[in-house]
Amino acid sequence: MNDMTLLERDVDTKNIKIAANNVQVYYGDTHAIKDVNVQIEDKTVTAFIGPSGCGKSTFLRCLNRMNDTIDICRVEGDILLDGEDIYDPKVDPVQLRAKVGMVFQKPNPFPKSIYDNIAYGPRIHGLARNKAELDDIVEKSLRRGAIWDEVKDRLDAPGTGLSGGQQQRLCIARAVATEPEVLLMDEPCSALDPIATAQVEELIDELRQNYSVVIVTHSMQQAARVSQKTAFFHLGNLVEFGETGHIFTNPEDPRTESYITGRIG
Ligand SMILES: Nc1ncnc2c1ncn2[C@@H]1O[C@H](COP(=O)(O)OP(=O)(O)OP(=O)(O)O)[C@@H](O)[C@H]1O
Ligand SMILES: [Mg+2]
Repeated sequence: MNDMTLLERDVDTKNIKIAANNVQVYYGDTHAIKDVNVQIEDKTVTAFIGPSGCGKSTFLRCLNRMNDTIDICRVEGDILLDGEDIYDPKVDPVQLRAKVGMVFQKPNPFPKSIYDNIAYGPRIHGLARNKAELDDIVEKSLRRGAIWDEVKDRLDAPGTGLSGGQQQRLCIARAVATEPEVLLMDEPCSALDPIATAQVEELIDELRQNYSVVIVTHSMQQAARVSQKTAFFHLGNLVEFGETGHIFTNPEDPRTESYITGRIG
């Protein structure tokens, strides 16, 4: 192997944040994810698209072991985060989920103040030594969630009293408060109006500077707007994965083409 090949390989693997190898997921006898292999890059937004029931959420939940919480769910294969197997018995799923944060379809703030929604994670993970440091984390996270200006004068008010779009940005701020490396978002804008959606999309683009973001979306316009890489799932298979521009303009698989042109799904 010459030097050039070594160098290229090095550069290539360095940018891989998550590698999934031969992943199978079963719910009882239902084979929901079929031999999926994919490499998710760092500082990149990856979109998961595909018809309802194809396994997008199931596969997304594999990436931070949220499927562990579903009794009948069984995951096989390897998922490596920075080369380390996240299913290794030594890995604490709570620590893992601080590193691989998640934002859900329906905003789900805790029934606590805006401040405590953000401070909760940093407190349990011991990220602040004192109140001043915690205040800093709260402010920084709310700023990153693009909601600081709207809530800075009412940090003691309940998070559940915010509008839907504000609640979702609060949940994104909460997810970034533990300094995650990866952010998983399952249809984060489906409960939001176009203005709040645009704010969240802008935020996702900013988050890409620091994180690897994976977003499940039913909106192909959204996938095209926010992602650099797209994965198309169909009936539990990862049919096609590549540059977003390529997938949307020149898909290689007829199933991808049918989906993006609106013939399936
Ligand atoms: N908790 C569960 N128990 C049993 N089966 C499940 C469970 N969650 C998902 N499934 C099944 O796994 C398959 C994939 O579902 P999943 O929710 O991952 O699809 P999806 O692509 O996210 O769909 P949608 O776009 O509707 O959210 C489906 O057949 C679904 O019925
Ligand atoms: Mg889903």
